[in-house]
Amino acid sequence: MGVSTTTTTADTAAEAHGRYERLFADMDAPFAFVDLNAMWSNAADMLRRARGKPIRVASKSVRCRPLLERMLAHDPGFQGLLTYTLPETLWLYERGMRDLVLAYPTADRAALAELADVTDDDPDGAPVTMVDSSEHLDLIEAAAGPGHKPIRVAIELDVGYWILGGRVKIGAKRSPVRTPATTAALVREIETRAGVRLVGLMAYEAHIAGLGDRVPGKRLRSAVIQRMQRASVREIRARRAAVVAAVSEVTALEFVNGGGTGSIEATASEHAVTEIAAGSGFYAPTLFDNYSAFRLRPAAMFVMPVVRKPSPAIATALGGGYLASGIGEPSRLPTPYLPQGLRLDSIEGAGEVQTPLLGPPAAELQPGARVYFRHTKAGELCERFASLYLVSGEEIVDEVPTYRGEGRCFL
Ligand SMILES: Cc1ncc(COP(=O)(O)O)c(C=O)c1O
Repeated sequence: MGVSTTTTTADTAAEAHGRYERLFADMDAPFAFVDLNAMWSNAADMLRRARGKPIRVASKSVRCRPLLERMLAHDPGFQGLLTYTLPETLWLYERGMRDLVLAYPTADRAALAELADVTDDDPDGAPVTMVDSSEHLDLIEAAAGPGHKPIRVAIELDVGYWILGGRVKIGAKRSPVRTPATTAALVREIETRAGVRLVGLMAYEAHIAGLGDRVPGKRLRSAVIQRMQRASVREIRARRAAVVAAVSEVTALEFVNGGGTGSIEATASEHAVTEIAAGSGFYAPTLFDNYSAFRLRPAAMFVMPVVRKPSPAIATALGGGYLASGIGEPSRLPTPYLPQGLRLDSIEGAGEVQTPLLGPPAAELQPGARVYFRHTKAGELCERFASLYLVSGEEIVDEVPTYRGEGRCFL
């Protein structure tokens, strides 16, 4: 199946609204849906930006097994999953999914013991787990116990941007492993241990991949972000290549993973990187609206009903307070998207049981009307809904369970 089969001309937000209103006329909100035409168009855009480097799909940003399966079957450019907890990873493995890399260290001893059994049966294809210290190796070996085949591990490298001699550190506080020397030291330690085997390297440049560089109304801030990101890309390119060279002297790696939706082209252009990680780009939540390098189509939405009119100019929707994780500030609130022109109330925001909506279209919205919201992040939306309706053009083509809908709640 090729990329070109699924791209369509984008309809405007107003046209999409008309289409969704026809599609959902007989349905009672709340519910969530994914517009497949928008999603596959976003997928094509990610593949274009990756320029031939495979994209490992970040499962936390999808959290729907049937959609993960469809993404991997959609195009050979999508290869394997970057997962987010070990129980999730083992669950996916048990259900037939392969090429799984757990992107975050685990302290789950029971799951590690299970991973040891899986690795005994499938020593070269079992899931890979992430480490960045001796303590992680101790945990893995203690939980697995002696006499097992070595568990496949990858080292996470810190790719934060340090200035003023390291006094200011920009980027997520993740791994302490940063230089060729510290990486090589951990590689050598892994070599001495019977319970683990190094197969990969991963580094996630959160301050580039997850930080938009074209913030509306903030020209100075955008310029500062762009300058920082350009400098950081240069620094990472040199350091990651040096780390990979140092590791390759000790052992051969199966993969070097990097990037995220916001950095695909920059990370893919690095010779040392063999694959990109990305997931949010499929759903295109609002966090990815403000990048100068790409424009995605909103693909995932949730729909809430208007239930009351506190005054003629205000329409109040049921619930809707699905805030995104991260720093607690307004950008983490969901965005009322359709009809266009709605806004949240600055006093109430988006609430547990009600969300008052202001702006010109609110006067027209009566109880029973539907309001379409976008989440700030991608996969977290799926923690609020048991299923996603899948829409293609003028049809609802399917309804698929989210992780939650399959009775799973990993994080
Ligand atoms: C290790 C890692 N890689 C990649 C990503 C990028 O995922 P996305 O494309 O969904 O932003 C993330 C997101 O947090 C991550 O933690």
